[in-house]
Amino acid sequence: MRQKKYSICDADLYQKQWYAECYGLENKGYWSSLCKDLVASLDLDPESRVIDLGCGTGYLTQELLPKVKHVYAIDPSIAMLRVLRKHIRANNLDIFHGTIEDFVCSSPPIPLILAHGVFVTLKKPFRTLSSIYSYLPHKGIFTFSVENWENQNIDGEPYEKFLQRQEKLTTELELPNLQILLTAESRYTKEDVSLLIQSAGGHLLDCSERTMSTSAEDLFDSYELQGELQHLCSIQKEDHSLFKRDLALKREGIQRKIDAWKQLEALFTGKIWTIGTQYIFHTEALKE
Ligand SMILES: C[S@@+](CC[C@H](N)C(=O)[O-])C[C@H]1O[C@@H](n2cnc3c(N)ncnc32)[C@H](O)[C@@H]1O
Repeated sequence: MRQKKYSICDADLYQKQWYAECYGLENKGYWSSLCKDLVASLDLDPESRVIDLGCGTGYLTQELLPKVKHVYAIDPSIAMLRVLRKHIRANNLDIFHGTIEDFVCSSPPIPLILAHGVFVTLKKPFRTLSSIYSYLPHKGIFTFSVENWENQNIDGEPYEKFLQRQEKLTTELELPNLQILLTAESRYTKEDVSLLIQSAGGHLLDCSERTMSTSAEDLFDSYELQGELQHLCSIQKEDHSLFKRDLALKREGIQRKIDAWKQLEALFTGKIWTIGTQYIFHTEALKE
């Protein structure tokens, strides 16, 4: 089967149910930890009402709910919202299907908007920023992240090179290749975004940056290789129904496969996956 490539910067990807179901699971607690850090960096008033724009399946929503009075979670993807509804129930949460433009027509003014991981997926970033700043009251805050994957690497080895090495080993070991490959384009620099903010009617208060990194073993898990390995180990333990000679042959075959998977696993073990840089833009709307 041919490998399919999808870009995580493509808003249409988030409309797909299969992607929504596995969104963010590839690196376990890592995405949640970014949302936790973002919330911790904000001085949130427990009485405040907050818009979580592009809430997706609710990683940021979940962090916000215990910290504020009310969260309005907005997303144009029915698939992502379906997953959010499955996992999160709270009395102080309202969920809206649509974009910020749809939301502003029917809502009271809310002076704080947050968006995590959304900017890079926007089809018309200038239009969205303009809608946000014209909706916000004077001095209303919009804080959002912009991800840049330019220097993505595994223990210093460029990500693309690492993937090639992994593919070569997979072929040599006669293991199935990945059917789906997620790619990411670094479309924006700090300066690009600062200019966009200004021309859309916003004012930049501060921009901080942090490195996005996690254990490369998370990447191994994301390819479900780990699951395959566990499955093989369990067959090896289970099967008592065959004649001794057949059983020995079967075991030998399984053992060979297990050894191959382990070689692949070793590519990832103990290594750091530097995913890229995340910029956090703290901005406000100025009306006078
Ligand atoms: C990478 S996900 C981030 C989800 C969530 N904020 C998180 O941190 O896990 C990007 C989300 O932005 C949403 N999105 C794309 N275009 C949007 C727009 N114009 N307005 C609001 N959300 C949008 C997508 O549907 C998707 O759920």
